[in-house]
This record gives sequence, structure tokens and C-alpha cells, in this order.
Amino acid sequence: MPVVNYQIENNVGVISINNPPVNALSHTLRTELVETITNAQQDESKILIMICQGRTFIAGADISEFGKPPQPPSLPDVLTTIEASNKPVIAAIHGQALGGGFEVALACHYRCALSSAKVGLPEVKLGLLPGAGGTQRVPRLAGVEMALDMITNGNPISAEKAQSYKLIDKVIEGDLFAGANSYAQELIETKAELKKARDISIDPTTVNNDLFANYREKLAKRARGQIAPQNIISCIEAAVMLPMDEGLAKERELFIECMQSNSSTAMRHLFFAQREATKVKGLNKDTPVRDVKSVAIIGGGTMGGGIAMNFANAGIPVKLVEINNEGITRGLAIIEKNYSVSVKKGKLSEKQKTHCMSLISGVIDYQELADVDLVIEAVFENLALKQEIFAELDKSCKAGAILASNTSYQDIDKIANATQRPQDVIGLHFFSPANIMKLLEIVRGSKTADDVIATSMKLAKIINKVSVLSGNCYGFIGNRILRQYAREAQLCLIEGSSPQQIDSVMQNFGMAMGPFAVGDLAGLDIGYKARQGLSDEQRGEEKTYCIADALVEMDRLGQKNGAGYYQYDPQTRARSNDPLVMDVVEQQAKAQGIKRRQFDDDEILNRLTFTMINEGAKILEEGIAQRSGDIDIVYVNGYGFPVFRGGPMQYADSLGLKNVYDTICQYREQYGEQYWQASVLLKDLALSNKTFSEWSKDK
Ligand code: 3HC
Ligand code: NAI
Repeated sequence: MPVVNYQIENNVGVISINNPPVNALSHTLRTELVETITNAQQDESKILIMICQGRTFIAGADISEFGKPPQPPSLPDVLTTIEASNKPVIAAIHGQALGGGFEVALACHYRCALSSAKVGLPEVKLGLLPGAGGTQRVPRLAGVEMALDMITNGNPISAEKAQSYKLIDKVIEGDLFAGANSYAQELIETKAELKKARDISIDPTTVNNDLFANYREKLAKRARGQIAPQNIISCIEAAVMLPMDEGLAKERELFIECMQSNSSTAMRHLFFAQREATKVKGLNKDTPVRDVKSVAIIGGGTMGGGIAMNFANAGIPVKLVEINNEGITRGLAIIEKNYSVSVKKGKLSEKQKTHCMSLISGVIDYQELADVDLVIEAVFENLALKQEIFAELDKSCKAGAILASNTSYQDIDKIANATQRPQDVIGLHFFSPANIMKLLEIVRGSKTADDVIATSMKLAKIINKVSVLSGNCYGFIGNRILRQYAREAQLCLIEGSSPQQIDSVMQNFGMAMGPFAVGDLAGLDIGYKARQGLSDEQRGEEKTYCIADALVEMDRLGQKNGAGYYQYDPQTRARSNDPLVMDVVEQQAKAQGIKRRQFDDDEILNRLTFTMINEGAKILEEGIAQRSGDIDIVYVNGYGFPVFRGGPMQYADSLGLKNVYDTICQYREQYGEQYWQASVLLKDLALSNKTFSEWSKDK
């Protein structure tokens, strides 16, 4: 079946593209587009309309072809053919015109779009830049500042906004084809010229001298470790300084540099991993899903309030259950405060806030939960309490209601077994702040029904979360790995390093924050209290937490009271090093019989990241995660792991698993078996020269 169809209706040549699911510019589509436009030059049509079938206009280059040998015609060649057409070409846009798709539209002579459509150049999110003229045509049409903003942030804009920046010529209400057709007739009647963005030149004297330097500086901070944003600035600068064809040549050169970079490989890996993560082995499109039209949240504290906001934002009514009326008042007040912050930032209107708040009601009586479709428990992290609540829910909720726990560590099966319906019980592990963090770990118990998993996956999309399925184990995927990372950070500290050295190593690697700064932000008392509830065995060796305990016992709780691993300025919250902390570290090292030594940055980086990778490999080996990309999605979306490294497992693949394995073996010799027993899977893959990604695909 051809992916491009062509027919002449009256005097209009209609080029109709049908390449599901998103009309990506595959090799076949590029070839057929060139052929169709070339042939159309000879026929009786007076004007051409390019329109797409399915849910969207062209959503970009076919990302699955990247990294493979390029096949002609290249996208720039396709655009040259369009632009050189001897009759005007109109792009008729619905859904989203993204990346190469928007570049195709920009090479057309006219662009019309449904008012619901969006256009954008999201390449930067894949570690790339628009490689088919986007960096040259957008500044010519919309101005340099708009181009810098739009292309470096990668977010799509509405058709209306695009029109105000001359990126779209006409916004259409109603039927796209009918609107495009009447626009075509208008252009024929007025003998409209072949309007080309390339014919516009930008007067360099109109561009503020410092503009590019300021952008470079801003993005060096915001997009640390990435080359694409800097290259985009250079391309836009070329659009100002150079003729079109030289600008295009510069864009091509820098596009290829981005394409070959590790950061783009990593970010493209994440693009597909995120989509793959929503697929559950053994479940398919026919797996039924349950209706979720109302939700109850048990516990209106830090997590419960944030979780409630997710559902209210999606228009789903929420009952917030607390122990007493004071609990409800407190919970609702926090939610209201959070919404007010969004209103202040202009992200929400006062009317939207009122609507969301009207969807959340407080209750104290479980009888009121008789008709809800989903309950999410978010009370204190205490198994007995959670079991008590689930037994209560079992009595109060209707048959078929999904009963979920937001527990961070507890065994989902033990919670499920407190009910007579373990098949309806699941873990829905949100991250703090739950109204903002994108990640949702969906934890499958041994008896969780397939339709409960399928419903949870679907629901995650509705509330705009990135979801990953995890098996049931202590800490699930994310916190289980985090424990290893946190332990190595503590060990490096007590053996000779400092909070600032470790934090700066991890920040330079690209983590949003180092482990000690994170501890201070979360509050050191949280871990302290959690440790009190653990058995000696669960708590582990004293040297892995004695410094943290000592700081809490000195009332250094972190940012909340101005001192933790660092000192914080009460006004500005600016962080500074505190010699007192190093005294504590030295005392504790002495008490543990540890002789402190100099640490080099590489050892810190490798110990903290390789322990994560090794635990990730064990998680794969045990079937807790379905594939390595799922672990990467958890780490990038829930734990601030740098996107341009693609997550811990992709990072390991990029280093070569043999290198990782050999270093882990060396650490085992140096530091003992306890923490450095290499995963069997890691060893097998290292010795057979394979990657986690390859293993995940073959599985
Ligand atoms: N190439 C290849 N496959 C793509 C694709 C692309 N550009 N865009 C989407 N897909 C695939 C997805 O992998 C998914 O496949 P699956 O069903 O097998 O998992 C399927 O299409 C549907 O995608 P989504 O699940 O994301 O569908 P949504 O409806 O939620 O979203 C979308 C649609 C907004 C178009 C979203 O898919 C998207 O943002 N796509 C990527 C857009 C993009 O980044 N374009 C730029 C590409 S780079 C480029 O063009 C370079 C150029 O400048 C030279
Ligand atoms: P929190 O202490 O802020 O809130 C717990 C709330 O539950 C309190 O408001 C309390 O009054 C209420 N509550 C206690 N017993 C109740 C009962 N029987 N009925 C109704 N309400 C009751 O705790 P937080 O931080 O919100 O944690 C809740 C759960 O979420 C825990 O299981 C925790 O492990 C998990 N979690 C916490 C994260 C965090 O960063 N805080 C992140 C992810 C999960």
C-alpha cells in the first residue's frame, strides 16, 4: 500500500499522507513524497495541498532510522523538492506538526492549521537539533528570540500562537480539508506568489549584541552536559549572519555532530524506553480495563494531598480520608496552598483552581467509600496500620474496586492478604511532590489481576504520569537501587571523602543534586525515623548510617532547620560547608575503626553508579523489572538521573559492561563480597560482549 496518495479535485492536487501511527518521515514516505511532488509539476493542478490521515500531521523524522545508514532521499532533499515546486504547496495541519514534520510544513509555501493543532521543534529533547532547515526558517519567519526560545525548549505551541509569529498563515475552524480547499481557491484567485521563508533575510543590526552570549550562558546551566542546545544557538546565529544555503550547511554539520553524540543516543533510548515501559508482557490491547470515575485517598499528608491533586486535575472526583476533621482541614489547606502557587505562577487560572478544589472533598467515615472505583492508601509507612486499613476497605468498598497502596517499601502481598480480594490490590507508588513528579511505579503483587494492572497503566496516562511496572520486593525498583547508592555515598564519606566532594562529583556527572544535598532537602529525620523502625539486619552495618544518625541527634535535620550536611543561610537558603560536619565524620570514622584516606573523584563516581548498575542487573535477573529501559525510566523521572546519560543501565551499556564488571570485581577484592557481589546477569553479558538493551530486546 502506498503511504502517499494523490488525486486532483477540481484544480487542486491533494497529496494525502497515510503512514500510521504518526506519519513519521520514513524512507518510504520520503521517497513517495518526492515522486508525488515531482509528478504533480506536470499535471493540470494549479496548487497542491499536503494533508495527513490519522491522528496527526507528520510527527517528525522516523526516529527508529537514526543511527542506521542513511537512505536517500534525505529529508533536506525532500524539502528542496517541495520548496522548488512551480505551483504553491499548502500544508494543512491537524494534530501535531513536529520536528521534521514541521520543517516539511515550513518548506511549503503556505501553512494552514486547525485551531486545535500544535506545531513545534522538539528535537532538543532527543539530544538533536532540527536538521532540515528549522533553525534557518523559524528565525526568518518568527524572529530570532522566538526561534531561540522555541527550538531550545522544544515545546510545541498552539496554532493561534504560531499564527501570531507568522509560522502559520491561516487558522481553520471545523473541517480541515474544506478549510484548506477554500484557502487554496483564494490563493489561486489572488495569484498568490511562491512564498519562501528562504527569501527573507534578517538584518544583523536588529539583533541585540548580547543575545546569543546570554542564551549560551543560560543553557550551559539549564542543560548541563548537552551539546544540542549550544549547537542550536550556533545555527540560529548562522541564520542571522549567513546566506540561507550556508546556514543550511552549518545546520547539517551540527545536526550530524548531535546525532553522533552519546547524549542523543541516550535520549533517543529514553524516548522509546518510555513508550515500551507502558507495555506489560502477557497483557495486550484486549485486556479489559475497569472504569475509574471516582477515587478515594486514605491519608491527606505529604503524599495523599499531592496524589489527590493529580486526579482532580484530570477531572476525577476525589474523597480524601483522614483520621479526624483537623486532619481533613490540614490536608485540604495544603492542597489549596499548592494550587495557589500554580495560580501565582500563571500555570492555572483562579477558575480552574476553584474547579479542582470542588472535586476534592474530605471524609472521615469509611462507609462513604462504598461507591468509589479506586482507593489509594497513603498513611504512615507502617505495615500493621496499612493491613488494618486494607481489612477495613475490604469491608467498605464495592466489589471490583481497585485497592492500591502508595507504600515505599512494604510487601504488597502482605497488604493484599489483609483482604479477601488480593487480586484487586496493587501498589501505586508516587514520588514526592506527587503533583509534580512524573514517575509512577506500578507494583504487581503475586495475585494482582491483569485488568487491575492494565487499568493502572491506562490511568497513569490519564493523570499524565510516566509509568513503569515493578515486581514486589523491598523498595521496588527505585528505592531498592537508591539504598545501594546512598550506602556507597555514606561509605565514601566515612572512608575519607566529604559531602561537598561527593555532591560535586555527582552533580558534575549530571545528577540534579548530590546525595547529601538531597538528604538535607528531604530532611535527615525522615531516614532516621525509618531506621528506628527497622530490625538490625534491615538497618545494616552501623558505618553506613552512623554519621546521618549523629547529625540528627545534634538536631541537624537539614534545610528545614538550617543545618544538616551543610549550613543554610536562613534568608537565602544558600548552602555553605560546615567544618563541624567534618568533625562528626572524623569522630564517627574513629569510632568505627576506619582510617580515613584521600579519595579521587573517579572512585566516588564509579562506586556510586556501579552499585546502582549492579543492583539494576539483579532486579532484571529476578524479573522485578521487565527490561533495562524500565529501570532507566524510573531513574530519570524519579531520581534526577541525567537524561543525557539515558539512565543507569544505558550508561552502563555506553561504558561497556565488561568495564563495569571488571571494576566491580576489583571492588569485591578491595572492599569484600558483602556489597560487591557481581550480578550473574551482568557477568554473563559482560563475558558475552552484550548490552542490557540487547538482552532486554532478545528476552
Ligand atoms: N519516529 C518513529 N516512531 C515514532 C515517532 C517518530 N518520530 N513518533 C512516535 N513514534 C511511535 C512511538 O514510538 C509509538 O510507537 P509504539 O506504539 O510502537 O510504542 C507510536 O509512534 C505512538 O507514539 P506515542 O505513544 O508517543 O503517541 P501519542 O499519541 O501519545 O503522541 C506524538 C504522539 C505527540 C507525535 C509523540 O509520539 C511524539 O512526541 N513523537 C515524537 C516527536 C518528535 O520528537 N519529533 C522529532 C523527531 S526528530 C526529527 O524530526 C529530526 C529532524 O529535524 C531532521
Ligand atoms: P505523612 O505523614 O505526611 O502523611 C500521612 C497521613 O496519613 C497523615 O496526614 C495522617 O494523619 C494520615 N493517617 C494516618 N493514619 C490514618 C488512618 N488510619 N486513616 C486516615 N488517615 C490516616 O506521610 P507521607 O510522607 O505522605 O507518606 C505516606 C505514604 O507514602 C507512606 O507509606 C510513605 O512511605 C509513602 N511515600 C512517601 C514519600 C515521601 O517522599 N514522603 C514518597 C513516596 C511514598
